Amino acid sequence: MAVDLLLGLQWGDEGKGKIVDVLTRDYNIIARFQGGPNAGHTLEFDGIKHVLRTIPSGIFHKESMNVIGNGVVIDPVVFVKELEGLDPYNIDYISTLIISRKAHLILPTHRLLDAASEASKGKAKIGSTLKGIGPTYMDKTGRNGIRVGDLELKTFKQKYRALADKHVAMINFYDVEIQYDLDEMEVEFFDAIKKLKELTFIDSEEYLNQAMKSGKTILAEGAQGSLLDIDFGTYPFVTSSNTTAAGACTGLGVAPSKIKEVFGIFKAYTTRVGSGPFPTELFDKVGEEMAKVGREFGAVTGRARRCGWLDLVALKYTCEINGVTQLMMMKSDVLSGFKNLKICTAYNYKGETITHLPYNIEEENVAPIYTTFKCWKEDLTKMTDASQLPSELNEYIDFLEKELEIPIKVVSVGPDRKQTIHR
Ligand code: GDP
Ligand code: IMO
Ligand code: MG
Repeated sequence: MAVDLLLGLQWGDEGKGKIVDVLTRDYNIIARFQGGPNAGHTLEFDGIKHVLRTIPSGIFHKESMNVIGNGVVIDPVVFVKELEGLDPYNIDYISTLIISRKAHLILPTHRLLDAASEASKGKAKIGSTLKGIGPTYMDKTGRNGIRVGDLELKTFKQKYRALADKHVAMINFYDVEIQYDLDEMEVEFFDAIKKLKELTFIDSEEYLNQAMKSGKTILAEGAQGSLLDIDFGTYPFVTSSNTTAAGACTGLGVAPSKIKEVFGIFKAYTTRVGSGPFPTELFDKVGEEMAKVGREFGAVTGRARRCGWLDLVALKYTCEINGVTQLMMMKSDVLSGFKNLKICTAYNYKGETITHLPYNIEEENVAPIYTTFKCWKEDLTKMTDASQLPSELNEYIDFLEKELEIPIKVVSVGPDRKQTIHR
């Protein structure tokens, strides 16, 4: 069988966790392929809310296997806390959660380096989640990283010490004050490693390719969103991995020819957390209303998410680079009762109207051009069937489908598993 792929088309937090959880019943294996504990994927069912960071969002389904792929970076400390969060729910993660030996480890000093780097940037900071993501991927591409498979080596402690000492020298190089107690952080880290080693480490590319040969179905779960992609996102205000479709191939070891469906997830509006350009951002009461009704606070850092209208220019771009075959529109319920809705259909770029995403979308270059839509008044949250959706919402959907030339197969009308309408 092939691999289906699910990824976010905006700046993250589109609702990937919810939809992976909904789709898991159709798959044997759920595999995360990039990112790390900078992700916060929220799942809601049976009146309980869970936030997953590194663990794939299929973990609550007893029949599915969950793979952390080679493209992921793992912080053992965060990971163990995540496992502890599962304990009340009788999840047999020792059997159903397996980890690639080639996944890289986030060391305590990677987190410190992240903090030092951000502090040194002042106002130009990225707005990182400070989970050590950038420094860990830098060590990976710089060929200095430590991988999960290294935990099985006798030389692990030596390797660790050499890299951590180097990091301390680098932290001192930054001309910033950061307070830390490395000894304490290391005690926590090595305790977490003991627990991590209770899980099974695998050669995940081999595992996944064998699984495909034996007819198993696989869903690859993306983290972050395409506009945070290291190559195609709003650089430098991005994360340090390929969040786009190609990242699933390198992050799992599956060939491009094996990818079948590409599910692209987007919110009916746009949010962004952290710094960086955001042409359709709202600074008025409407933006405040979106944030309030949509509860737009980061699942990881609790930071307020910036809110704005849907940006079709950016969405077309991310559908294209990912080869999206099906769309899923999230949080439609949040917009109920707005006076009217807007979709950015073009940019005024240095005095010229353009419909493609230019190199630089900073405010001084780009002004959004909007098409206005009537908004629906109905509360969508109790609707269960596409036939119940109000005509104004259908017009909004039809417009997007026509412009993007991709069907919108799911309309999400609330955070719960059940609040999902298939079209
Ligand atoms: P992810 O990182 O893409 O998995 O998304 P997050 O979990 O960070 O953020 C999405 C937030 O929206 C979470 O709080 C979800 O519970 C919530 N959510 C998901 N889908 C919907 C929806 O259709 N309507 C509403 N109101 N909330 C939703
Ligand atoms: P999920 O998977 C939203 C943002 C950060 C910052 C930038 C770089 O939940 O959608 P990093 O910690 O990677 O160095 O931060 O990327 N960011 C996210 N924003 N959702 C996420 O993940 C994010 N992961 C990173 O806010 O702007
Ligand atoms: Mg999130």
